[in-house]
Amino acid sequence: MRVAMIGTGYVGLVSGTCFADFGHVVTCIDKDTTKIDALNNGKIPIYEPGLQELVAKNVDEERLFFTTDSSDAIRTADAIFIAVGTPTRRGDGHADLSYVYAAAEEIAGLLEGFTVIITKSTVPVGTGDEVEAIIQKTNPDADFAVVSNPEFLREGAAINDFKRPDRVVVGTEDDKAVEVMQELYRPLYLNETPIIVTKRRTSELIKYAANAFLAVKITFINEIADLCENVGANVQEVSRGIGLDNRIGSKFLHAGPGYGGSCFPKDTLALSKIAADAGSDLKIVDSVIEVNTARKKKMADKVVDFLGGDVNGKTIALLGLAFKPNTDDMRDAPSIDIVEKLQSCGAKIRAYDPASMEEAGKMMSDVLFCDGPYHAIENADVVVICTEWDQFRALDLERVKSLLKAPKVVDLRNIYKPDYMLSRGFEYTSVGRSY
Ligand code: UGA
Repeated sequence: MRVAMIGTGYVGLVSGTCFADFGHVVTCIDKDTTKIDALNNGKIPIYEPGLQELVAKNVDEERLFFTTDSSDAIRTADAIFIAVGTPTRRGDGHADLSYVYAAAEEIAGLLEGFTVIITKSTVPVGTGDEVEAIIQKTNPDADFAVVSNPEFLREGAAINDFKRPDRVVVGTEDDKAVEVMQELYRPLYLNETPIIVTKRRTSELIKYAANAFLAVKITFINEIADLCENVGANVQEVSRGIGLDNRIGSKFLHAGPGYGGSCFPKDTLALSKIAADAGSDLKIVDSVIEVNTARKKKMADKVVDFLGGDVNGKTIALLGLAFKPNTDDMRDAPSIDIVEKLQSCGAKIRAYDPASMEEAGKMMSDVLFCDGPYHAIENADVVVICTEWDQFRALDLERVKSLLKAPKVVDLRNIYKPDYMLSRGFEYTSVGRSY
């Protein structure tokens, strides 16, 4: 099949590359000339394990192309994906759909033959109807179907999530479009990955409901973590104890500093707005947003308390800045709130992250970005582990101790075991465990 992917951001680039790897001929389109030039020179604008190699392989095998000029690719496409950004609209929390609608207008006049237009971007319920109306209005003769096909990729694990998904969701009532979608996902269709074909509006809602449910799970365990600290229990054992019940499931029950990233914060907010507009009250989702926002700020208090209630003039080494490991994404990362609050209390911050320092530099000021974890720790009063990168699990703890002013660790991701740290002479605290 011939595929056009509009938007070469995270979702578009990963999906386009994986569709090419499924054997389709894919053209990834973006208005950003710098990005397309970089991709044509083998440079990948995002950090995603395995992506560079997969792009190179499919470019070499002439199935993957990058361009700023959409016209040829759109004219010849069997399937056109809209994978542009849907950021939070300034001021009201709704998703900003201007990029999606602009893409619909742009493709409408170019369509030739039956074409399936697929929204991959996370879009509010009813957006597919609007895209359909725009295309119909702009080009009344066009032969097309609009399908919702949300993505469920996690940053850092996106290629695996694309190739081995738990399910694929396809929202359309058009039989010809279903056939095209089955052909696009043929390797998954053949290996019997569940492919849910449903109404477009249902599919659009599945995406938001999935992300919101995961955010609920995380926030629930974070609140239980606070309770654990107050009653002398251990949140990791509570997670294990409840997660082994198949009805609950063990994933997304890791307590931490609060969820961040480009999806959960934006999508929970958008779902809350969608619900309010539809006259429904999503009290659980609203509480999750409130609790998570407060939690990120509260994490700095944990550090302050650990240092005896005053961090004025103290030096704090922050290990990990990205919202999670294996990404350079800093959007809504808990580290942003933590740094801001600690600085406002007079602390000096030395920081290290294996991938996100450039991004962090755009968002944080007066932070000393260091060359490595040991450089960050040098002469600091405390180490705060903010992101669970593997390399922080493998630190030489004797060296850490010798570099710190005092051997103090605040482990916001629970990557160490308390007994282990205490027996090695550290003063140690973490999340949801009592000492
Ligand atoms: C999330 C979803 O997991 C994907 O399925 C979805 O496709 C994507 O959003 C999207 O809508 O595009 P992502 O934001 O990449 O993916 O990251 P996650 O791995 O889900 O983590 C989100 C946040 O939750 C991170 O801050 C992470 O540290 C936190 N988290 C996750 C926890 O605090 N505890 C957990 O147990 C799991």
